[in-house]
Amino acid sequence: MNKENRFDKSAETWDTSDTRVMLAQNIYDAIVKNIELQEDMEVIDFGAGTGLLSRNIALHVKSLLGIDTSSGMLAKLNDLGRDNISTLHVDICAYETGKKYDGIVSSMTMHHVEHLDALFTKMHTLLKEDGFLAIADLMGEDGTFHNDNDGVHHFGFDEEHLILLAQKHGFTDVKYQRIFDVTKERKEPFGIFLLTAKK
Ligand SMILES: C[S@@+](CC[C@H](N)C(=O)[O-])C[C@H]1O[C@@H](n2cnc3c(N)ncnc32)[C@H](O)[C@@H]1O
Repeated sequence: MNKENRFDKSAETWDTSDTRVMLAQNIYDAIVKNIELQEDMEVIDFGAGTGLLSRNIALHVKSLLGIDTSSGMLAKLNDLGRDNISTLHVDICAYETGKKYDGIVSSMTMHHVEHLDALFTKMHTLLKEDGFLAIADLMGEDGTFHNDNDGVHHFGFDEEHLILLAQKHGFTDVKYQRIFDVTKERKEPFGIFLLTAKK
């Protein structure tokens, strides 16, 4: 099963998970604490899914583009019928445009993106000068966060590795902070980080 099918299959019930809703809410809270979102901004959410993060970020900005490789997830985001949210069914690394954005947000998606150099190169290209990154995902873990690791290319990300990667791709003001923990039954808590940076 590829990752597209996997998320297409979960799309219908995605928003019924309390853990996912809680995760997205905490990530949203951390983003608005760390980034000054403005009403004239055009922002991308990559791996937007059903829009658990996008729908809240869109309240603060002019427009939000939800990019995702799952048409099933994007159909749920489109169902919200929000005027300033549009969607694009493409791999973020393959998004070709001359347009530049004010910011890129993302929640729990980067561990599904295989080639991180391609991702950071693309994000740098997509941003205006001074544009921001605000990416939340799992801190380094032992591979037990997901019940099924199909389509999981990274078992979380360590601080040093990610900071060096962002700097290597030309980002400045790079900050990695633990924003909260997710507890799963019979497992040690999983840390969630927020990476913020400027072009
Ligand atoms: C774990 S879900 C997170 C969804 C949403 N951000 C949330 O917090 O509920 C990861 C999403 O990333 C999408 N995805 C995975 N790899 C991608 C890529 N290379 N480009 C765009 N979207 C991708 C999947 O289809 C899925 O919808």
